[in-house]
Amino acid sequence: MTAPVPDLRPADRDAFSADVVIVGGCGRVGLPLGLALASRGLSVVLYDVNPVAVELVNASRMPFVEEGADVLLREVSRAGRLRATTAAAAVGTAENLVVVVGTPVDEHLNPDLGVVPRALERCAEHLRDGQLIVLRSTVHPGVTALTERQLAARGLVVDVAFCPERIAEGRALVELFDLPQIVAGRSEQTIARAEKLFRYLTDRIVTLSPEEAELAKLFTNTWRYVKFATANQFWMMANDAGLDYDRIRQAVTFDYPRAADLPMPGFAAGPCLLKDTMQLAAFNKNNFVLGHAAMLINEGLPLYLVSRLEDRFDLASLTVGILGMAFKGGSDDPRESLAYKLRKILLLKAGAVLCTDPLVVDDRLVGLEVVLAQADLLVIAAPHREYARLGTGLPVVDMWGLTGQGVRV
Ligand SMILES: NC(=O)c1ccc[n+]([C@@H]2O[C@H](COP(=O)([O-])OP(=O)(O)OC[C@H]3O[C@@H](n4cnc5c(N)ncnc54)[C@H](O)[C@@H]3O)[C@@H](O)[C@H]2O)c1
Repeated sequence: MTAPVPDLRPADRDAFSADVVIVGGCGRVGLPLGLALASRGLSVVLYDVNPVAVELVNASRMPFVEEGADVLLREVSRAGRLRATTAAAAVGTAENLVVVVGTPVDEHLNPDLGVVPRALERCAEHLRDGQLIVLRSTVHPGVTALTERQLAARGLVVDVAFCPERIAEGRALVELFDLPQIVAGRSEQTIARAEKLFRYLTDRIVTLSPEEAELAKLFTNTWRYVKFATANQFWMMANDAGLDYDRIRQAVTFDYPRAADLPMPGFAAGPCLLKDTMQLAAFNKNNFVLGHAAMLINEGLPLYLVSRLEDRFDLASLTVGILGMAFKGGSDDPRESLAYKLRKILLLKAGAVLCTDPLVVDDRLVGLEVVLAQADLLVIAAPHREYARLGTGLPVVDMWGLTGQGVRV
């Protein structure tokens, strides 16, 4: 990887000791971004309130699984270009500050407009005039403007940009360099400064206003969520008609580019898609029939699956093994995973439930060999590669098509 060479630092080179500080820097988005920027020659400080993650990163150990990150973390740490800290004062050490804290919806699916402003408030006394503050969390539209007002009210003269993250977990260290970067700001100066930062990763920059970019990110995730819901409903329809959706999908997509993106069925879960669809709904005064319909379909999938199993098996007399508890295949991230919803429903309906996952850390899980030895029926809830060839005589319920045995349930 070759580093472009524009000098990030202001004329007074001693003003800042680092190039970039990332608030939320040890998270699933912040850490890969820090690694990517450090790999391009910048000196990066990760500020995070999680002391365990900070300690791991400073020991050159990844707090979570991300393809290619272990090696890169060791490299950039050894080169002295990346360090993590829980000290809020760190936010004043670089011209560029990127904020990428988590932005969940609450238990009633309402967005919390204050997450990003609160994260900045916590460290605001250390912010400095002249900094570029890049918001990278996925936010409810209006949060960039709110942040601009908040910082101006503190008397700070800073530029605020919104540059949404669009990577998929697990592919971050490829996609950070491959995907075009959306850069938004209210002034030419802000856009130029943010663009200069992201040109360390890619030359493909798209500029928008902050409000356009906030919507662009929500549209992106909602589009995927609705697409998965469409596939899931098609799958349920085919199933109920006694047909195999995968055979139909193969016919539909075969040499037919207009339908090439019709997905396979599966749990559409994780920390982003549902909550961002709900952020968009809230933005539209909760008038978002398509988004809410997608939620009902995707969140209802575990219930549908169990009701199909009840039709086929005497569940109460069986031990069901759930294979894969992460929210998607190849991931160790259990956040908002529908595998846990499946577990909850099966705890009520089945004789016993055993759960396993090769990557997720959770005391309630057991090894795959225990599940294979004790279960009567297996359900693949996260399509980890190792479940493609299980070598078992037990019935395997596989809506993902991972085992190549069809997706009828
Ligand atoms: N996970 C993804 O695949 C993905 C992809 C694109 C965008 N996003 C968006 O990126 C944002 C971050 O998501 P994530 O998955 O990395 O979340 P995360 O929970 O993994 O990371 C957030 C980090 O911020 C830290 N943090 C929280 N409050 C803080 C504060 N006040 N000061 C400093 N650190 C603080 C946490 O300790 C955590 O390490 C969200 O808005 C999300 O929607 C996520």
